[in-house]
Amino acid sequence: MTRHFPSGPTGSFFGMSLAREFSRDPLGFLTEVSRTYGDLAGLRMGPVKACLCNNPDLIREVLVTRARFFRKEPRTLNALRQIDGEGLVVTEGDFWLRQRRLLQPAFHPRRLGKYAATIVERTTQFLDRWKPGETRNIVDEMTHLTLEIIAKLFYDLELTGQASEMGEAVRTLSEIFAAELSTLIKVPDWVPTRTKRRKRWAIRTLDTLMRNTIRERRASGQDKGDLLSMLLMAVDEEGDGRGMSDQQARDEAITMFNAGHDSSAAGLAWAWHLISTHPEVERRLREEVATVLGDRPATAEDLPKLKYTDCVIRESLRLYPPVWILFVRQTVEDIELGNFQLPKGTWIYILPWVTQRDPRFFPDPLRFDPDRFSEERISSIPQYSWIPFGAGPHICIGQGLALAEMSLIVATTLQRFRLEAVPRTEPVVPEPLLAIRPKGGLMMTIRTKAG
Ligand code: HEM
Repeated sequence: MTRHFPSGPTGSFFGMSLAREFSRDPLGFLTEVSRTYGDLAGLRMGPVKACLCNNPDLIREVLVTRARFFRKEPRTLNALRQIDGEGLVVTEGDFWLRQRRLLQPAFHPRRLGKYAATIVERTTQFLDRWKPGETRNIVDEMTHLTLEIIAKLFYDLELTGQASEMGEAVRTLSEIFAAELSTLIKVPDWVPTRTKRRKRWAIRTLDTLMRNTIRERRASGQDKGDLLSMLLMAVDEEGDGRGMSDQQARDEAITMFNAGHDSSAAGLAWAWHLISTHPEVERRLREEVATVLGDRPATAEDLPKLKYTDCVIRESLRLYPPVWILFVRQTVEDIELGNFQLPKGTWIYILPWVTQRDPRFFPDPLRFDPDRFSEERISSIPQYSWIPFGAGPHICIGQGLALAEMSLIVATTLQRFRLEAVPRTEPVVPEPLLAIRPKGGLMMTIRTKAG
């Protein structure tokens, strides 16, 4: 029998206290509600009717099989449009499809060989700056490294000196958008607050970099075989036969710049946190790296052999999915989902953080156990319960690249160093910005691999 709206907690003041609880501790609040109310939990927050969707079969319906009945919620998209313009992440429908077709070749597996060489070369140069005995904030380090990599891979840009400023700009935007999206009341952009000034500075910094890079590339007429050349030369042969304007190229370039490093950096920081606190995992990783690579630089051909490294990355992404919440989806008409009736306009939350820590899908869910992803055990993970890259038509275009990049960075680092967590009195707390990061950073001491 189809029931009406799914049940869930009730707030004291037209739901407004729930919104406050949500803003105060999104991860704790959403986990608690999902565990208490089941696969679909209803939430009424002020004027918003929302559902938390925490069941792999329902997730498949929303993201894959019935994706056309759900669209990305406009408020989130509008917030991101201020920086991404009409880039792939914020568009939908025919325009999105055309752009996705134009961008897809940059992510073809056959390009991985070249990308892997650049990733390993950049990582090696980056690690040359580390000295044994130093203490570094590994979150910042991974952000700088992944920024330098994406800038080189996609735009042939040397960011070595500027990575801190770019990192700061991206982090500023991530913080501000996360804050804007977690509150229902938005301060208009014309109100002259310090936050708005920082936001304008950050957008201007990224915008200037991309526009200058595009201008120089157009003027040189060079095909460097990277994403930017591809964007500037791309023609939609299956569609309207036209290419991209400079504005579109700018939007996609900024989109890839942001989407292409922030989540990988957060994922790597969490991986280092887990590796440094699980000596047996670290021992097995070192053994694999020594057997497969010895002291020579890794290549794309090594990736299938770095099996345990891949399991460690996947398990880190399970426990700490950088994209802890997918774009909120909204029903485009009244629909039935999981025996419930959802009116048009209902918000659907899909939360990798919650689903990937659910004991029904991952027994002993808080245990860091990379072997869950081993060949023998992986088939026991229900489909659509491990969703760090989303699923369906909007699945992360950079999934293959990100997994390869993370494995190559971990393996290349372990060939030379050991990262030792600096003892702390407080536990490491996840901070749900656009990507989820360890709050206040993660201090680690660089040791030689033997030391
Ligand atoms: C660990 C690293 C990464 C994670 C966890 C991640 C996660 C995600 C997720 C969950 C989505 C889907 C969002 C939704 O449906 O609501 C997504 C989409 C996207 N990602 Fe990633 N991503 C990562 C790395 C990358 C990289 C390296 C790139 C590009 C170089 C990239 C570019 C994109 C783009 C353009 C989209 C939008 C795709 C579309 O709507 O067609 N991501 N990502």
